[in-house]
Amino acid sequence: MDPVSNPYAPGAGRPPAALVGREAQLTAWDVALRRVQAGRDAQSVVLYGLRGVGKTVLLSRFARLARERGWIAAQVEGRTGASLRDGVGEALHDDLVDLARPGVGKRVLKALRTALSFKASYDAAGTWTFGVDLNDADGGGADTGVFESDLGKLLRDLAGAAEDRGVGVAVLVDEAQDLPFDELIALCSIVHAANQRQDRLVLALAGLPSLPRKLAEAKSYAERLFSYHEVGPLADEDAAAALTSPAESEGVGWETSAVSLIVEAAVGYPYFLQQFGQDTWSVAGGSPVTQQDAQLGIAAGQLALDNGFFRIRWDRATAAEKDYLRAMAVDGDAGSSSGDIAARLGKKSRALGPVRANLIAKGLVYSPAYGVVAYTVPAMAEFVRRQRE
Ligand SMILES: Nc1ncnc2c1ncn2[C@@H]1O[C@H](COP(=O)(O)OP(=O)(O)O)[C@@H](O)[C@H]1O
Ligand SMILES: [Mg+2]
Repeated sequence: MDPVSNPYAPGAGRPPAALVGREAQLTAWDVALRRVQAGRDAQSVVLYGLRGVGKTVLLSRFARLARERGWIAAQVEGRTGASLRDGVGEALHDDLVDLARPGVGKRVLKALRTALSFKASYDAAGTWTFGVDLNDADGGGADTGVFESDLGKLLRDLAGAAEDRGVGVAVLVDEAQDLPFDELIALCSIVHAANQRQDRLVLALAGLPSLPRKLAEAKSYAERLFSYHEVGPLADEDAAAALTSPAESEGVGWETSAVSLIVEAAVGYPYFLQQFGQDTWSVAGGSPVTQQDAQLGIAAGQLALDNGFFRIRWDRATAAEKDYLRAMAVDGDAGSSSGDIAARLGKKSRALGPVRANLIAKGLVYSPAYGVVAYTVPAMAEFVRRQRE
């Protein structure tokens, strides 16, 4: 069928035509926004799960929901090497410009002035012009160089400005497992203090399944600070809806047996559903999509995943790292003990420490528990087993 109207969207962060099966997470976020807007404290939200389950698109939906309420929202990605200070500062720029209207109140002016000092703290050459006179405004001082107090000051003043306008401030951090420890600690402290003051601030963090443990290590009270939501494989009905509902909007139906085939092949993983859906659409002659279309689509989709989704990760590994990944594959996707891997490779566990650390830094594996490693993408074990050399 027409590739122009193909409604499926495989790809990191690509918004699906139908975002299904995430009602619990969306409700938690909605409650947080409404509580904050009602002047109450709210639990910030943590989303965790493997790659390809839909954390990024959910986080983007969170940001959109906040913006639809007129909130100030900053969405950033925790990347190794980049600092959260720059990330948050730059992500706020457009909303700050929108805030700066003639005749705004003192608290808005104060927030703008503080934002200027925050900008100066990481960008000595650049500056922002808001087109309003800030000479007599309070604020500033978010440039001490101490991340926790600078960001805390910025968000506190912004929350004050938001309160004046009956809205709130949302900060959304993707790939939060990659944040350096001091930044995780700072985020926890800032939300903790903001909750106690009932500041109009709420956070959403998304990351690999190791994120909840990292937060707990950063601050012991992190457990109470956030509501934790696993973003996992979709239930069969939801997976089916992810296929049929986008097609319906294009006036295309699916045979039930075709849907079942793909739901089974994708084992609930949104990325795989989008890939198989896209490839099945490509081979289908028209409506309804048949079982045979689905068979061909799945085969084409598997190939595309092998050459893309899995391949880009595999190619990032060195020879020694590939050996390590192969030794893990024996255990399937469930995870492996470092000791077992070492035994299989005929090495001492400690000698493999650097290999393991590199694989974690590259985002290929994570540690679900002490002394255990697992692949960050679903169905990786099978792919690794298929790799020769
Ligand atoms: N709830 C969902 N329903 C249908 N498709 C989804 C859903 N969540 C994510 N997807 C699709 O899955 C793929 C991966 O989503 P992404 O947010 O990048 O995952 P993650 O950030 O967890 O790696 C994208 O192609 C996206 O369109
Ligand atoms: Mg993501």
